[in-house]
Amino acid sequence: MFKQTSFGLALAGIAVTALAVHEPRLEPEGAPPVYAVACPEGAADAGACEVDQFTYDGWKTYKIECQQCHGGGGMGSTFAPNLMTRFNESGVDYGRFLYVMEHGYQGQMGVMPSLAKNPRVQKNKDAVYAYLKARADGAIPNGRPPKPDDTPPQPQGAADGAGPAAAATSAAPEAAAAAPAPAADAAPDDAAGKDGAPGYAVTCPEGAVDAGACTVDQLTYDGWRTFKIECQQCHGGGALGSTFAPNLLVRLNESGVDYARFLEVMENGFQGQVGVMPSMAKNARVQKNKDAVYAYLKARADGVMPNGRPPKPGS
Ligand code: HEC
Ligand code: HEC
Repeated sequence: MFKQTSFGLALAGIAVTALAVHEPRLEPEGAPPVYAVACPEGAADAGACEVDQFTYDGWKTYKIECQQCHGGGGMGSTFAPNLMTRFNESGVDYGRFLYVMEHGYQGQMGVMPSLAKNPRVQKNKDAVYAYLKARADGAIPNGRPPKPDDTPPQPQGAADGAGPAAAATSAAPEAAAAAPAPAADAAPDDAAGKDGAPGYAVTCPEGAVDAGACTVDQLTYDGWRTFKIECQQCHGGGALGSTFAPNLLVRLNESGVDYARFLEVMENGFQGQVGVMPSMAKNARVQKNKDAVYAYLKARADGVMPNGRPPKPGS
């Protein structure tokens, strides 16, 4: 089993630029700032991860200067947007980020203030970018990361032979050298064992925008496949929701749907404010694969795996 380990890469900006829709932007003088983060697989809180000083400073600055509007971990509030969505789906890249920090902007949702005169933001804006990029890449869960100590151990995970992550690491030796490893006592299997909930094992290259670029275990693959056949027609591709059934990432992350609730809903269905979720008790494929579906949805909800078709394990 491999751990999910991610390293920020200067290269990542290239892929994001292609999506850019939000203008104007500043032309950055250097490459986008990178983060170095290592989390045990399935970590649900940043407290279980190790981060470099830079990413830590970014988290701290974010908490002081941005969180009151953009919510904990960049997840948005009623009056300011989810920044992971802006990074991943609205093409906010480093240049756009710098522009917004400098000039602010007024959009459809409201006013993002200029932070040009805020010394803490000016000093730490690159760090904030690195932190938000780590969040947007699904490399670090919400929560307070531990303060880095001054002896960063060697990166793990890439060494476990997971193809894409290993490639990413060797492409960025600086980031890799500075990268902390998961804490020695952070056992990846624990994530799987929590409350008996099925775990996933997923490794994606940093900034991956399609699951086709990732490596997944058989359980997660079976979950994706079952979801596609049995759930997608209502819950949308990648569980992102449709007009008549909810985004399940939001239900898992924000409405407290955990493994026990998931099993309850699979068995009995439920009628809520959006509509009727049918019972799956008599659906043989779902019964056989419900743990796999949960593992897949959890990987999606944890931001570990983008939308799309993952490759068949071993192919
Ligand atoms: C007073 C509330 C407030 C604070 C504080 C705030 N923001 Fe915003 N921010 C907004 C709002 C509102 C928007 C959305 C504007 C829109 O799209 O209508 C926004 C949008 C953004 C965007 C998206 C830009 C785009 O092109 O889509 C980024 C990036 C951003 N903020 C980063 C930050 C960061 C980083 C901080 C802290 C250093 C911060 N914001 C602090 C309210 C705030
Ligand atoms: C016929 C459409 C339909 C299909 C098929 C369907 N769902 Fe749903 N599901 C819904 C609707 C509608 C809701 C929202 C009910 C509400 O909150 O009003 C829902 C809600 C849920 C919830 C949230 C429960 C909660 O407590 O908030 C989960 C989890 C879920 N579905 C999982 C699945 C899975 C997994 C599958 C496939 C095995 C699936 N659904 C197939 C329509 C569907």
